[in-house]
Amino acid sequence: MRWVALFGGLFLLPDVLAVKSQDFKTCSQSGFCRRGRALSTRAKEASSSWKSPYSVDPSLVTVSPKEAIAKAAVKSSLYPDIKFSLEVRVHDDGVVRVRMDEVDGLKKRYDEAASWALVDEPTISNTVSWTAGKKDLRAVYGVKKEVELIVQYEPLKVSLLRNGKEQVVLNGQGLLHMEHFRNKEPPKEEKKEEETKPEGEVAPDAGAEQVVMQVEPEAKVENPRAWFEGDSEDAYWEESFSSWTDSKPKGPESLSIDITFPNHATVYGIPQHATNLALPTTTGDSPTFSDPYRLYNADVFEYLASSPMSLYGSIPVLHAHSADSTVGIFHAVGSETWIDIGHSSEKSTETHWISESGIMDIFLMPGPTPEAIFAQWARLVGPTPLPAQWSLGYHQCRWNYVSSDDIRTVQKRFDEDDMPVDVLWLDIEYAEEHKYFMWDKKNFPDPVKMTNDVAAVGRKMVVIIDPHLKRTSNYPAYQEATERKLLVKTKSEDEYEGWCWSGSSAWLDMFNPATWQWYIDLYKTDKRDTWSWTESTTDIHIWNDMNEPSVFNGPEITMPKDNIHHGGWEHRDIHNINGMLFSNLTSQAVMSRTDPPQRPFVLTRSFYAGSHRFGAMWTGDNLGTWEHMAVGIKMVLANGVGGFAFAGSDVGGFFGNPEPEMLVRWYQVGVFSPFFRAHAHIDTKRREPFLLDEPHKSIVRDLLRLRYSMLPIWYTAFRETSVTGLPVVRPHYVVFPKDKAGFELDDQFWLGSSGLLVKPVTEKGATEASVYIPEDQVYYDYFSNHAYRGSSKGKNVTVPAALHQLPLLLRGGSILATRERPRRSAPLMKFDPFTLRVALSKTGSARGELYLDDGVSYSYRDGNFIWREFVAEQPQKRTLRISNKDLGKAQPEKAVDSAALTKFDPTNAFAKTVKDVRVEKVVVVGLSGKPSSVKVEGSGKQLAWEYTLGVAAGEKKEGTASVLTIKDPKVLVTEDWALSIQL
Ligand code: GLC
Repeated sequence: MRWVALFGGLFLLPDVLAVKSQDFKTCSQSGFCRRGRALSTRAKEASSSWKSPYSVDPSLVTVSPKEAIAKAAVKSSLYPDIKFSLEVRVHDDGVVRVRMDEVDGLKKRYDEAASWALVDEPTISNTVSWTAGKKDLRAVYGVKKEVELIVQYEPLKVSLLRNGKEQVVLNGQGLLHMEHFRNKEPPKEEKKEEETKPEGEVAPDAGAEQVVMQVEPEAKVENPRAWFEGDSEDAYWEESFSSWTDSKPKGPESLSIDITFPNHATVYGIPQHATNLALPTTTGDSPTFSDPYRLYNADVFEYLASSPMSLYGSIPVLHAHSADSTVGIFHAVGSETWIDIGHSSEKSTETHWISESGIMDIFLMPGPTPEAIFAQWARLVGPTPLPAQWSLGYHQCRWNYVSSDDIRTVQKRFDEDDMPVDVLWLDIEYAEEHKYFMWDKKNFPDPVKMTNDVAAVGRKMVVIIDPHLKRTSNYPAYQEATERKLLVKTKSEDEYEGWCWSGSSAWLDMFNPATWQWYIDLYKTDKRDTWSWTESTTDIHIWNDMNEPSVFNGPEITMPKDNIHHGGWEHRDIHNINGMLFSNLTSQAVMSRTDPPQRPFVLTRSFYAGSHRFGAMWTGDNLGTWEHMAVGIKMVLANGVGGFAFAGSDVGGFFGNPEPEMLVRWYQVGVFSPFFRAHAHIDTKRREPFLLDEPHKSIVRDLLRLRYSMLPIWYTAFRETSVTGLPVVRPHYVVFPKDKAGFELDDQFWLGSSGLLVKPVTEKGATEASVYIPEDQVYYDYFSNHAYRGSSKGKNVTVPAALHQLPLLLRGGSILATRERPRRSAPLMKFDPFTLRVALSKTGSARGELYLDDGVSYSYRDGNFIWREFVAEQPQKRTLRISNKDLGKAQPEKAVDSAALTKFDPTNAFAKTVKDVRVEKVVVVGLSGKPSSVKVEGSGKQLAWEYTLGVAAGEKKEGTASVLTIKDPKVLVTEDWALSIQL
């Protein structure tokens, strides 16, 4: 069932599990997309005779030697009196930024998308040598001067080359079109003959003349620009969709640009879409989708499991990949954008970006590897910060836990069934009449006490705060926001009113700086001049939902595009950034409740490039179907491409009542999602894991415990992400970029650099699964230690996958640090001992890392952490040495968080708190024989151990590997030591 606003009231409509496609536009229902696609069709039809009307005026090219920014004047032969500017700069890490804007136009184009997305103003390189020639402007840079940027003047084309080979080309196909601002002409029929000439028209210049040659003679007479722009002013001044009309007071201002990737056949990214990770085509011969990918943040109810339709978030970042190169682009635009993807040849990809408004602001990330792109992207938008450690535990949510006693009962049931959980969630029904920050006192009479009861065992609560404010006199948040003029306005500058959960609602304008401190103060628990959430505690963290924004009675379930935000910008200009500002401010609010600040947890549904700095995301209202379970994995991987590593899907599916088998499989997916939360719609049956019957209940308990035992691995992976920008869960092309056979793989993935390879089962009735091993290496089943052998050509192995078996392999050569003692919550594991699992490679070595800090504060930035490296090697034949070293002290090259590392001192305050933490067990898998002696180096004492015979890492055979279990070696995790094993 879904609440909908009808006839001035909210009504429940029955569910039909299918997207309401009619609520959302296709490209052909969106004026500017139609115009953009028609432009591309005309170009394709004209083929080689097509020439872009845009060119650079060579006499107006300047390179400022100090700023190293190249500036040029651009004109269009279609409108010679309209001026455009082009600006090109090279950042010190080789990223190129290309900006184009209209100069002295009738209005201003929105140019702040990048400033919201970027973490800082990037530094411009001073080692680039620019040459402005007669035909082009060139910049050469790179360690071996291998990168070249060419701005061709006539027609305008920007190309990035590496070793003389084109990598990314802008406007190579001549689809660049920046529709300039113009005045609306009175309707034609009312005008006299001589007035019908469109404003600004003069005789076409030589460039236009050349192209005009190809068009039909009649068209030439009628409209000399028709060959490029088409012959009708399609939806320039007004546009209707369903019962809504978009008044478009600024007229047409769309931006079209083609971006081609010669020699890169596979593209990834542009989340959020429910589709494969390697993006299927939308143009060319038999494209997979007939519509372009759309980026227009929307509350798409019951979305399709395979579609280019818009979803809740937008990150306009694309990776283009081939076996020998990866490049990336980011188009910093906040307005609705459609992206066509096709292949110009078997080896190359062409894309076409059509945006409704805004300047052109494109970043070219030169790679040349996925790893390099992630680093370049992280320098632009910042990496995912280290989350609070507890937030990597299990989150239990549903719409709704109906009272404080309900919460207490749920917590008790988890404890009685020995199931760990870290966070209990409250959805919208906690709030009196959906007035957020105000408890429904009938059902939640003691919110602070309830939260304290949950926090007593280290747990937290997450409570939902949506961006709509109920328009009522007994809601101080709404009253104060009205008085302070902090609300979004209509095109006629009145308060915008729409419908959401709280009925008639208004929306905070987060683009208004006056909103910021007031909103942050709402979260303060002490009494203040302004109204605030006094009945709260710092153990409550926040869920931001409906921040696209979702408006039940608005066009495409969102705000009208002609609504007005601070600075006079229309909603159309900033729509895709809107949700990010809400979670940005919420995370600041949550952080600033304590002094010194604690790491906030904020979950957001809507997002943009840069949103990962403010919390986690989930994939919205998925369905309890196998298809949705499968596509959720791909969506999480795609989100990682956009830099948003902390991601997950509703475990169990939001809609529907999954049968136990499906629920178990969904937990297997969740256990390997960076963000692990079960959630369900208000009309679903309760499905907390303790309600399951056997054997399902025990299987899920084991899965939850598996997640908790691996929390150190997750945290170490997040720490790496927080300094390198690499995703936490990594798709195949990121780990094995040269392996063509794996470019399309998106149903198996890696957990950080741990060596864990997981392939969740997303099919009913499966008893086995096929896992692709890309290399000549031994891989061990995590649970049975069965050794599988890969091949340098890549090989599929069949692994058992009955319901209780999660296909999870550990790459030979890895060492994992786990905590195996079941606890109720993550903070309770703080002083638990570690188990080391040493999975020997075929050459008998292995390594792994462990990072730990207090998990809640920012004191790791002052060097309060431990960072250990475990290494297994064979210094001599028949000897295996396993050592524990201090990586923090060693400060390896790859670390870029130099500030924290320079402050590192092995005896730091955090290290002291865990100084007694032991390694209680070391398990060595794949040893070539039974040991004759196992000792701690420097001690004459034999350790206790057990050995089970099995295949050795270096053998060719498959089968259960040998396992040596060393019990309580009496070594500490914070100290350097080595174990010596003699065979
Ligand atoms: C939206 C959210 C969902 C939530 C519901 C009620 O549909 O996506 O997760 O439970 O609103 O707040």
